[in-house]
Amino acid sequence: MSTKSFDIKNPRVADGGRHRIEWAEQEMPVLRLIRERFAKERPLAGLRISACLHVTTETANLMHTLQLGGADVVLCASNPLSTQDDVAASLVTHYEIPVYAIKGEDNKTYYDHIRAGLDHQPHLTMDDGADLVSTIHKERTELIDGILGGTEETTTGVIRLRAMAADGALKFPVLAVNDAATKHFFDNRYGTGQSTLDGIVRATNILLAGKTFVVCGYGWCGRGLASRARGMGANVIVTEIDPLPALEALMDGFRVMPLTEAARVGDIFCTVTGDINVLDKQHFEVMKDGAILANSGHFNVEINIPVLDGMAKEKRKVREFVDQYTLNDGRRLNLLGEGRLINLAAAEGHPASVMDMSFANQALGAEYMARHAAELEDKVYTIPQDIDREIARLKLKAMGTEIDTLTPEQEKYLTSWEEGT
Ligand code: ADE
Repeated sequence: MSTKSFDIKNPRVADGGRHRIEWAEQEMPVLRLIRERFAKERPLAGLRISACLHVTTETANLMHTLQLGGADVVLCASNPLSTQDDVAASLVTHYEIPVYAIKGEDNKTYYDHIRAGLDHQPHLTMDDGADLVSTIHKERTELIDGILGGTEETTTGVIRLRAMAADGALKFPVLAVNDAATKHFFDNRYGTGQSTLDGIVRATNILLAGKTFVVCGYGWCGRGLASRARGMGANVIVTEIDPLPALEALMDGFRVMPLTEAARVGDIFCTVTGDINVLDKQHFEVMKDGAILANSGHFNVEINIPVLDGMAKEKRKVREFVDQYTLNDGRRLNLLGEGRLINLAAAEGHPASVMDMSFANQALGAEYMARHAAELEDKVYTIPQDIDREIARLKLKAMGTEIDTLTPEQEKYLTSWEEGT
């Protein structure tokens, strides 16, 4: 039941979008291989897919892959600020894929676009943050019977879905793409690491060398961000609530301290925790004049913006993605990208080479769901190991790197327990 309507900003910018989509494709060799096979085997034939993802050049390549696999696809934005309007235009114009996404859309339009995506009556859902699945379960329960299953891209989405499953609320199976090693070891770490700095630098044009850069959270994204910020010459402080990653950060050579202490000395703060109000009143109260605040976690809840608003006597936009808040004592705090994920708001998200693996997992995950959903319970499943390993093998091959294989003697040794000292 494909609705062939769409809602995008400007169809006239489609050609530029197509060039950029093709540019990204060059860096997505694994997805290209999957696409070639999908075009021959059509594993998704007859299936309607509603995808709620960041509308980027990389996502466009995924949508095209699903389409060549036989799926009838529609796409809506998974964040109000991450849409690349030229990509949305090209998908509609050149690929005949309905898109509902406009960069800078307000919250109402954002959810209207999700509802439009669901009017497609999907057999499969593809989410980045679980907004599609949660809207189905809250507002569109009549769709559930027709849904085979879904896939979920990100840590925050997987956490939400596992909470739903634990409550017995989840009514169809979902594959956690984020659980794949070829996703979170690379996308979350190297992708977020690089693209977050890219977003901060594009928004501000500041020099990172010599600055004190505070990374809140040392999950895979925080690890990547801290290592890349250090690589650019910043003096990095990590804050954590979990003793294990805190210890890891310390032994990785970073300073670790409570955020209330880091707040006094940081020049740049970036949250990557997945939790709410990480940067809050007590931190704003002691920050230095000129401090820069950014978030690279999925939702715009990590910086307490309403409190910052309440503390400010003036707020003005000083650059495209920079809102400057002047507090009563004259200190100025600079909030980037309205506290939304800065790598997608002010830059282009993760580079294509790393999205190649994430979206290979999405494409193979959709194929797996098409084949196996009937055997699955209403739970969150990890991507099967053989898919994960195959993606790593293909990526290595595409990067021109060969590795060794075990000799029969070594294989035997690994499966025996008799041999000791
Ligand atoms: N998430 C982070 N970076 C992305 C990108 N380039 N495309 C789609 N989703 C993303």
